[in-house]
Amino acid sequence: MKIPKLVLASGNEKKLREFERLIAPLGIELAPQSAFGVPEAPEPHLTFLENALAKARHAARLTGLPALADDSGLCVDALGGAPGVNSAYYAGPQKSDEDNNRKLIAALAHLEYTAERRAHYTAVLVLVRSAEDPEPMVAEGRWFGHVGFEARGSGGFGYDPWFVDAASGLTGAEMSLEQKNTVSHRSKALRRLVAMLREHEAEGV
Ligand code: IMP
Repeated sequence: MKIPKLVLASGNEKKLREFERLIAPLGIELAPQSAFGVPEAPEPHLTFLENALAKARHAARLTGLPALADDSGLCVDALGGAPGVNSAYYAGPQKSDEDNNRKLIAALAHLEYTAERRAHYTAVLVLVRSAEDPEPMVAEGRWFGHVGFEARGSGGFGYDPWFVDAASGLTGAEMSLEQKNTVSHRSKALRRLVAMLREHEAEGV
């Protein structure tokens, strides 16, 4: 399947930059939905998959173009998977990273050991060729680590200053974009999606 142009169903500039790096080598132009005046879609569902699918269909419907959506979040074991699909709005509708992090750290304050603070980011990507596409492409990725004891670094976004990568011990915010793109949930999901696109292309779909 040759896709020259994709709408990204997200208003998040930082996500756009992460995606662009990974998708540009395929010769696919990525345009944010804001460039078409598409407002953010509601995310009322219980799963990342359903939210991502709803966002992708919404962007495809309003632009007439193939659309790529991601739904992602931080899942903390000790909190039964919260903030999960509510990651963006964990501390309320103001969607503030600072408030979300404050609430998260308060919820984990009684946990003194790294092992008790295990967490992972999850990303689900959905690509639809049209709003009614009966065969959306779906790819998932996870990034494992724990919620640290202090904020470190100034890069990334969201929970990154507190999320400590299991392999390197660096927080997401201490990593360069290139480093984050080799280990992150979104980059893993995107690499899987790119592999699927290449496979479809090879099959002449
Ligand atoms: P979404 O835009 O509905 O997928 O919301 C994702 C939310 O999950 C963001 O607002 C962040 O709070 C959190 N999140 C997802 N991916 C990341 C990441 O790579 N770093 C930090 N926070 C993330």
